[in-house]
Amino acid sequence: MIEQTLIVIKPDGVKRGLIGEIITRFEKRGFKIKALKMLNFSKEMAEEFYSPHKGKAFFNELIAFITSGPVVAMILEGNYALSVVRSMIGSTKSYEALSGTIRGDYGLGITDNVIHASDSKESFEREAKIIF
Ligand code: CMP
Repeated sequence: MIEQTLIVIKPDGVKRGLIGEIITRFEKRGFKIKALKMLNFSKEMAEEFYSPHKGKAFFNELIAFITSGPVVAMILEGNYALSVVRSMIGSTKSYEALSGTIRGDYGLGITDNVIHASDSKESFEREAKIIF
């Protein structure tokens, strides 16, 4: 089943020079890049993007982090894109993410966990509207 999903390489991933490595992984897996953009999240965009987490203890830290530098966003298309991309990025807590996943290979943080990917079709549609 062909699906689309959205990924965002977070400010830590961009600062550390991981854009190319991450794009290469998705291209090699067979995903088509349908849209690609480098941008800075404004505070308003960030609060809308992460609105499902509003009220959580880490919300303010998350908004400060995602607005701290440029990010790279992409819409990827391919077979079962939503679940395959989530499995490729690994667990939210990078220190628990398995080696071989993006977070498991490139990070140890929670807030600074290198990459975001939509967790459902509804999230993809909501998130893509904010960025593209
Ligand atoms: P992401 O997949 O982009 O979705 C929500 C983000 O909140 C998550 O990645 C982390 O960057 C951040 N975050 C910070 N602290 C936590 C936490 N304790 N649990 C889950 N997410 C957290």
